[in-house]
Amino acid sequence: MFQTIRGTFDVLPEAHESGGSRVPGAPAWRHAEDRVREVLARFAFEEVRTPVLEPVELVARGVGATTDIVQKEMFTVERTRETYVLRPEVTAPVMRAYLQHRLGERGGATRLFYVGPCFRAERPQKGRFRQFHQFGTELLGSDDPRADVETIAAMGAVYEAFGITATRLRLNSLGDAPDRPAFRDALRDHLAPHADALSETSRQRLAANPLRLLDTKDPSERALLADAPRLTDFLGAAARDHYAAVRDGLADLGIPFVEDPTLVRGLDYYTRTVFELESDALGAQSALAAGGRYDGLAEAVGAKQPVPAVGFAAGIERLFLALDAQGYALPEARRPDAFLVALGDAAERRTLALARDLRAAGRTVDLALATPGAGRSMKAQMKAQMKAAARSRARHAVILGDDELGRGVAAVRDLDAGTQADVPLDRLAGALGAG
Ligand code: HAM
Repeated sequence: MFQTIRGTFDVLPEAHESGGSRVPGAPAWRHAEDRVREVLARFAFEEVRTPVLEPVELVARGVGATTDIVQKEMFTVERTRETYVLRPEVTAPVMRAYLQHRLGERGGATRLFYVGPCFRAERPQKGRFRQFHQFGTELLGSDDPRADVETIAAMGAVYEAFGITATRLRLNSLGDAPDRPAFRDALRDHLAPHADALSETSRQRLAANPLRLLDTKDPSERALLADAPRLTDFLGAAARDHYAAVRDGLADLGIPFVEDPTLVRGLDYYTRTVFELESDALGAQSALAAGGRYDGLAEAVGAKQPVPAVGFAAGIERLFLALDAQGYALPEARRPDAFLVALGDAAERRTLALARDLRAAGRTVDLALATPGAGRSMKAQMKAQMKAAARSRARHAVILGDDELGRGVAAVRDLDAGTQADVPLDRLAGALGAG
């Protein structure tokens, strides 16, 4: 028997356990995704759907060659002379689509959102999967600090729409690329006397990508960094003003945040604003959503002109964890109005047309189909079909036998109340709709 591969799961009609995680049923996913779409549409973001497969170079150059995602976590697909990658995130693909289709030529800023699967070969654990699902926004073509505030407000509005309020917003500014060399030198000077105490990875990061060093989880390294120089002290005037305007905008909207000068992100494209939304309900993987500004990404993936842009992305699995923690009632499968039970050949032949007419009248209708192993006698069939009716969670069983057919009626059993009455076939749709 084949099984889903590690870190992936099926979504079934109903919730189930998979690898220690509770996977909500498809109606819950639909509900969550619909609500996300509703909220983001109110901010005038428009949906885009980009391919799951992208050129590996887009991700390598977009997300950054020294990131964990590119170095360790890509699922690549070899195809003759090309290498593709299952997208680990959607920001670089959206930028590709924006440039490819010249969406910027419509004038003004472009507001896009997406909902869909992403793939990272991480070690699976609670809230962390190898195929996971993100929703997010990208606001392209503006360096206005209000774009950053709008992005953070839209992200917050999604969680608010689900009643999730126990969150913490961490905020930082990574400045512009020219602000970084002086910071890197200062950080190197600060750490040089302690080089022996750094792990091999951190020494490499210090050389290749010093910002990432600030992200270390190692307690002794964190201690070394406690009084290290802060990137925010090295911001150029433009980035400093921008950061101040973002903070002011958040304050004007009453959106609480904490400044965290050690907040850096695992993706290399960020400039200026970065942020993470956390929830204690999630455990170790505390990030519900995260994002920031990425004014250099367009050029990194080949654009001739810079495209200033800002966005966020959120994990749907983590949204579910937060919903679960506060006992949010997710919708379950819709119940059929009727389950048709047929006894005898004539009645069986009649069920398809009866189902068609009831569905045409807007009813949700299931019907008993022969299954291997069911007995052949009338009694055995009745029993098997009524069991199927109960399993279908239908509100009514509509029982059709030769006797009923002869009289032009069906026996309608209310499966919740246990009551039963004959209903003329031409009035069935109405009777089934009422309950
Ligand atoms: P990210 O922080 O890598 O950012 O991912 C965003 C969110 O996706 C995380 O906060 C988390 O909720 C979810 N997530 C990430 N990896 C996993 C995983 N393995 N399993 C489950 N959930 C996961 C980005 O992807 C950027 N593209 C965000 C962005 C958009 N920046 C600008 N625009």
